[in-house]
Amino acid sequence: MEERKISRERFSSGLAVFFATLGSAVGLGNIWKFPHKVGSYGGGAFLFVYLLCILFVGMPVMISEFYIGRKTRKNAVGAFERLKPGSPWKSIGLMGVGAAYLIMFFYSAVGGWVYSYVWKTLKGDFIGITADTAAGEFGKTIIGPIPPIFWQFIVICVVSIILILGVQKGIEKITKTLMPVLFILLIICAARAITLPGAAEGLRFLFHIDFSQINTEAILEAMGLAFFKLSLGMGTMITYASYYTQDNDMIGTSAKVAISDTIVSLLAGIAIFPTVFSFGMEPGAGPGLLFITIPLVFSKIWLGNILLPAFFILASIAATTAMLSMMEVPIAYFSEEKGLSRTKAVLINGIVIFVIGILAALSADEGALLGQFRDPLLQKTFFDVFDYLSSNIILPLGGLFIAIFVGFMIKKEDFIHEISNQGTLSNQKLASGLYFVLRYVTPVLLIIVFLNMIGIIKLA
Ligand code: PFF
Repeated sequence: MEERKISRERFSSGLAVFFATLGSAVGLGNIWKFPHKVGSYGGGAFLFVYLLCILFVGMPVMISEFYIGRKTRKNAVGAFERLKPGSPWKSIGLMGVGAAYLIMFFYSAVGGWVYSYVWKTLKGDFIGITADTAAGEFGKTIIGPIPPIFWQFIVICVVSIILILGVQKGIEKITKTLMPVLFILLIICAARAITLPGAAEGLRFLFHIDFSQINTEAILEAMGLAFFKLSLGMGTMITYASYYTQDNDMIGTSAKVAISDTIVSLLAGIAIFPTVFSFGMEPGAGPGLLFITIPLVFSKIWLGNILLPAFFILASIAATTAMLSMMEVPIAYFSEEKGLSRTKAVLINGIVIFVIGILAALSADEGALLGQFRDPLLQKTFFDVFDYLSSNIILPLGGLFIAIFVGFMIKKEDFIHEISNQGTLSNQKLASGLYFVLRYVTPVLLIIVFLNMIGIIKLA
C-alpha cells in the first residue's frame, strides 16, 4: 500500500509528555465540576467511588488510548485504520472527532468568560463589590451578543496560534511553562484559603465521608467525571500518545497524570470551599460558584486583590491547555487524513468552532432568544446539549469501544510488547493484568452503568 510520507513531530522528553498530558487532563473540570461534585455527593465517599472509576475504567482506557496512539503514530481515525484496515472500527475515531467539536463549542464559551475575568480582575473591576454587583458583572459577561462572542473569539485565537506553532514549539512549550505556574498559583490560593477563620467547615464539606449519598446518580456522575477529567473516550489521548517518546513508560504516565489531576482538583476545592464557607456563602454549582461567589469572597480577604486575578489566571491556563488537546484531535485528523496543511486545518477548525460555539455562548443568557430555546428531545439549551451529549454519552461510549477494541482485537502479546516498550520495562505482569481488566472488567462496568442510565437495571 502506498503511504503518504508525513514528517510527524514528537514531544522531546518524558517531562514534556507528562506536562502535555496533564495539561489536557487539568482544565475547567478541575475547578468547577470536580470540587462541587465531591462536596455534594457525599465528600470522601464520592471520592472513593471516583477513584475506583479511575482505577478500573479510567486508567485502563487511558493506557489503551496510549497504546493505540503510540503504536500507530497516527491521528484518532487513522490509528484504527492502521490497526484494523478497512473495518468499521475507525468510526470510534470519527465519533471522537465529533465529541471534540461538541466539547469545544461550549468549553470555548466558558473559556471566554474566564479570559474576560482575567481582564476584569486585573483592571480592578471587583474591588469593593457586593453580592449584587458580582452577579451583575457575570451578567454583563454572558449577556450578548458582543462580550461573550468577543472573548470566545479571543480564546479560540490563542489556542489556534499555539496549535499552528506545532507539537514541540506550541503544545510542549506552553504546557511545560504554564503547568508549573498553575500549580504554584493554586498552592498559594489554597494556602490562603485554609488560614481563613471558619475554613474547617469548607474542608468538612469537601472531605466528610457519607456513603448514604452514593446512589445511582452519584455513580453515574463519578464515571462521567472520570472520563471528562482525564480527557478520555474521544481520541485525545490517542492523538497525544502518537507524539510520545518511544521509551515512555505509559502505565507510569497514566498513573502520574491521574494522581496529579486528582491532586489539582482537590487543591482547587481547598482553595474554593473554605473561602466560600468562611463568608457564609452557599457552595452553589458551576458557573455561579466560579464567576460570582469567587470574586465576591476573594475580594474580601487579605491579599484578595492579588489572589483574585491569580485565581482566574490559573483557570485560564487550565482552560487553554485542555482546549489545545481537544482541538488537536480534529487538527491531526484533517491534516493527516485529508491532506490539509496544519495551518489550514487549524484555521478552518477554528472558524467552525467559533461559528457554532456562538450558539453555546449565547444560550447561557436566559433573557436572549437562544437562551430560551430548548431542543425538542432533551429540553435543554444548546450549551447543555453539547455538554450532556459529549460528557455523559459519547465519552463513556467511546471508552467502552476502545476497551473492547484493545481487549479483543489486539493480541495479548502485542499489547504487552508495546506497553513494556518491547520488553525493556519489567512490567509484563502488570500489562497482562491490565489486558484482563480491559477484557472483563472495564467493559462490564461501563455496560452496567449504561444499562442503569437507560433504566434497564437499577444499581443503587
Ligand atoms: N479534562 C478537561 C477538564 O477536566 O476540564 C476537559 C477535556 C479536555 C475533556 C480534553 C476532553 C478532552 F479531550
